[in-house]
Order: sequence, then structure tokens, then C-alpha cells
Amino acid sequence: MTGAHDYSVPLLGDLHYDCPPIDVFHSDFRRLHAADGMFAKYQSEFESFSSMWGKDGRSAAVVNASGLCRLEDSAFALQLGDLVEGDCESPSLHRRMFDEAFALMKRTYGESLPFVTLAGNHDVRRGADRLGEYDSYRGISAAWHSKELDQEIKGPTFAFRQGPDLWVVADFNRPDPALVERLLVESGPSRHTFFCTHGAVLTNGNRNPRRWFFLGCPQYDASGRRGGGNWFSEERPAVDDARRRIRRLLAGRNAIALTGHSHHLELRDWFGDGGRITEFVMSSVTKTVKGGDLPDAPVVIGDHPKDFGRCRVPPNAATNDLVEALYAEYEPGMRRYYTADAAGHARLRISDESVVAEFFSGGAISPCATFELR
Ligand SMILES: [Fe+2]
Repeated sequence: MTGAHDYSVPLLGDLHYDCPPIDVFHSDFRRLHAADGMFAKYQSEFESFSSMWGKDGRSAAVVNASGLCRLEDSAFALQLGDLVEGDCESPSLHRRMFDEAFALMKRTYGESLPFVTLAGNHDVRRGADRLGEYDSYRGISAAWHSKELDQEIKGPTFAFRQGPDLWVVADFNRPDPALVERLLVESGPSRHTFFCTHGAVLTNGNRNPRRWFFLGCPQYDASGRRGGGNWFSEERPAVDDARRRIRRLLAGRNAIALTGHSHHLELRDWFGDGGRITEFVMSSVTKTVKGGDLPDAPVVIGDHPKDFGRCRVPPNAATNDLVEALYAEYEPGMRRYYTADAAGHARLRISDESVVAEFFSGGAISPCATFELR
């Protein structure tokens, strides 16, 4: 039976939209960074990610299949950041990358379906100083979402309502904890609360530097300088306070977090702070930065709460008291942890009774796995 407030949402993880050959978007990067070695450092990533696109690109097939699986009751389509590869070193090429990616989304889902994206680290990324195309992205995001959602949106952190549900989109690069708190506190009750940000909410799960999860250690400070990303940042106590305050607010609303960045498919179900946060990490990238193929169908790396913070840890990860203290905040409350290598698209089905994520491997049009988020 279909309820009055049931709807679905086509869902994509990171895309890193680009176009082969690499000189289409990275010619200025090549010119500006031939001498400093940065072009050599990133060339294989540009080759790999641009090859996901074009006529026979596997990511092009993933996006196409997501459009084919759009249901009649779709409310909007959602992509979880790193929509584009970035690193153009040219405002006009950066703008063109977004224009092409937005046009692809409109061809995929139809002109009338709103398309929502969020700020990934690549969306604001450019060469040597890594300050990012942040101001450019702010303008692009605000104009795009104001039009798509038909409400005034001023920057990359915002909220909107879909029926009885609250959707909060939060910038992961330069998080604004005060604004996120205000959006959560002032929005009043909701049936479901969805919190969408690029880096994971329940840590990055691999004991690696804090800059890669939401409010671990911001990518950029308030003035736009690149953040420290280490365990000993001067700002860490303040950032930790903000991380815990927002975690408590999310848990109090039994929120569902939708995140990307890791290029892994994950489900984390955490009970703590008097409530629950269920995090679904979506993966749509079909290649590794070095040019290898990621599998379409999930290859399970861990499927037990004790695997959280353990089975994805690289051999050179830091081990110290601060890492252990951070993970001790999350490990006891982790009731479900699933992590897999996979590349595909997903569809959320949302009703009074449940929130379910169906995962489709690669360009498949029938789901191969179902995750019950509520
Ligand atoms: Fe990414």
C-alpha cells in the first residue's frame, strides 16, 4: 500500500565528473604545475577518473542506469559530493565542468526533477595552494539549489522539507556548526531527519587523519586557509565540542546520515547520546586513483560491529591515545557495521514505516542489495 507521504530518491555517491582526454579540463593545471611536480603527481588520477566518462565509461553507465530506475514517486535526485573532479585551475573551465555535470543530471532524471548535490573536497579543489574554487562553488551551489528547490539558498549548508521529513545539507569543507545546529534545532519535529554531507559523520572509520570526516578537522579555516588535518590542531577542542554537540542533536532525532567520500559502500548503525544515527555511505566511483577498476557488485570487506575502525585501517595509520580516545566514543555503540568495495547507484524508498536503500551494482537496473535504514 502506498501512503500519502511515500516517496523515493535516486541516490549517487561521488562521481568526479570529467571528460577524456585530460587536456579538456586540465590543460591549465598541466601548464601551471609542470614545474612544481603537481601535474606529475595527479596525472594518473586525471587519466583514471576522466576515463570513467565518455562513450564507454563505466560511470556514464552507472548514471544512465540511475535515470532508468527513477520511479514515478521520485521527489528529487541526490548526489553526495565530488560531483566533479575539479583541479581545472581556471574559473571558466571549473564553471564548465559543473555546467556539463548539471546538464548530464537533467538528461538523466528529467528537467522537472530537482537535483541536489553537496560540497565535496573535489568540487572546490584546485592546484598548488589547495584553497579551492570555494567562492566559485558557493555561487554555483546557491544559484543551482535556489532554482531546483524553489527557495532562497545562500550557501552550501542549507535545509529543506520534503513532506513531513527534514533534509539538512552540510558543507564538509568549511563546516558551519552554528548554522547546522540552528537548522536542526529550529526546524521542529519531523518524521525522518536526513543529514547529508560529503565526509562521513561517524568518523572515517580507518583511524586515518581527521580532516576526512565531518568536523574531524576542517579542510579550511574560517579565512580559507588550508586546515591542519592532523590530530593536534589548535582548534581541535572547539571542533570536538561542535562535533559532539551536532552528534547529540542528530542522535536525538534518530537521524539518517547520507555520506560519500571514501569510495566505499557502508552501513553504520550507532546508538549513543540518547538516540541513534544510521549512516549510509554511498559509492559510485568506478575506478581507483591509480587506474584500477573497482568492482560493480559489493565485495564485502567487513560485516560485524567489531570491524568498525579495524578492517579498513592502512598499515601506516597513526596509533596514539588521541586516535584511541576518538574511536572509543563510537565503538561501544556500533550495532551494525558493513563495508564493501562496490560501484553503483542507489534508490531510497521512504515511508511512514521504513527507509530503505536499494543498491544497484554498476549499470544494473535491478537491485542486488537492500539496506534497511529505518
Ligand atoms: Fe571522491
